[in-house]
Amino acid sequence: MKTEKIWDLPTRLFHWTFAASFMTAFAASTREWFLDYHVMAGALVLAGASFRFLWGFSGNRNARFSGFVRGWAEIKSFLTGFIRLNPAKYPGHNPAVGLAVIVMLALAAVLGATGVIVYSGEEMRGPLAGFFSFETAETAGLIHSVAAWSFLALAGVHIAAALLHDVIWKEGLIRSMLTGRKKVESMEDAAVAERPILKKTAFVLFAFVAASAAMLVATGQQASGHAGALVEGNGGFKPLEKNIAYEEECGSCHNAFSPTLLPARSWEKVMAGLAEHFGDDASLPDETSSEIRAWLLASSAERALSEPSKKILSSIGEGAPLRITETAYWKEKHVDIGEEVYSRKSVTSRTNCAACHPGSPWGSFEDRDISVPKV
Ligand code: HEC
Ligand code: HEC
Repeated sequence: MKTEKIWDLPTRLFHWTFAASFMTAFAASTREWFLDYHVMAGALVLAGASFRFLWGFSGNRNARFSGFVRGWAEIKSFLTGFIRLNPAKYPGHNPAVGLAVIVMLALAAVLGATGVIVYSGEEMRGPLAGFFSFETAETAGLIHSVAAWSFLALAGVHIAAALLHDVIWKEGLIRSMLTGRKKVESMEDAAVAERPILKKTAFVLFAFVAASAAMLVATGQQASGHAGALVEGNGGFKPLEKNIAYEEECGSCHNAFSPTLLPARSWEKVMAGLAEHFGDDASLPDETSSEIRAWLLASSAERALSEPSKKILSSIGEGAPLRITETAYWKEKHVDIGEEVYSRKSVTSRTNCAACHPGSPWGSFEDRDISVPKV
């Protein structure tokens, strides 16, 4: 037995970055508030996978796919030995880990692609906001979580197996991923072709993917700041435009509800019934009324690119509610808020959306912007 340098530094750095960024992304997926962290960590997973893919053709001998990707027959014979607690020893990755590496890289690619679709089509953020339909994004979201759980399961098996190798067979696998060195019986000295350009490209690709994600998060924040909901206009989606008449007339008794939260058929009903409007007479001169009506219809939920709009639409089916606060979606989102909160001096009513959602006039109800007044 002699101690040999098995893993080059980039492979080791990749290994731990990949593990840490996946775990961070997974942990940050539990709360919508952590979305930015989730996206950043997820991007590092993708950046790492892109790097590792190229490194698989340019790294040292053990880092190359040719050094550890094996056919099914060899994987099976290794697993048979493993189950009998007498696995064959390999200086680098054994055939089972070889398979796991390929599956994890593939899962990372699936996670990255579906993640971008969810970010643009469901969260309506980033430079591609609205490029994918909400329905496509929901399907992508499903695939995203199946891929994430599969990745987690595979990582679990991988960690358990590595512990077995180290605790029972004392192979020093985990230490070798830190120091790069491992005791091996023999290691043939097969030379591999140097590929300096591919090596450099691997690093550039890593930086590029990571930087793109940083940009995605930055522009996502702009879109979710007070730019608010995007609405279908001539030739694409535009930020919801304000309407002075609406704010002055409809914002005089209550806050100006975001038009993006009810369908056009609801707004038509509201505007047709202003003379008897929730116990008030809110009638308007014809001209003002038709201007406001046109604007409400042009900015209604069907035409808006925002997650709440889509969810409200699907929660009401064919209905045409007069109240946002009567939709199943709204009720479900506010189920934890007690009457006492609505009666606080700075809130006064559940219809005072802006008290807790400062971005509401722009159609922005982002979780991270919510602040419930204490008094
Ligand atoms: C004279 C006062 C007044 C004016 C003007 C007024 N409203 Fe209202 N509106 C009310 C009252 C009162 C309610 C019930 C509020 C409550 O339950 O807290 C209400 C409720 C609503 C609701 C339902 C809110 C919910 O989700 O529970 C909508 C939508 C609405 N108004 C739209 C409009 C529009 C559009 C205009 C302008 C054309 C307008 N309102 C002008 C008094 C007014
Ligand atoms: C007393 C504070 C308060 C008031 C008033 C209030 N909300 Fe909310 N709203 C919240 C809180 C808190 C959440 C987050 C619930 C959660 O995610 O668990 C929320 C969530 C939402 C969401 C979902 C956001 C998302 O992306 O998950 C929408 C949309 C929304 N509110 C719209 C409204 C509208 C429209 C009104 C007015 C008719 C309103 N809210 C009034 C506190 C309030």
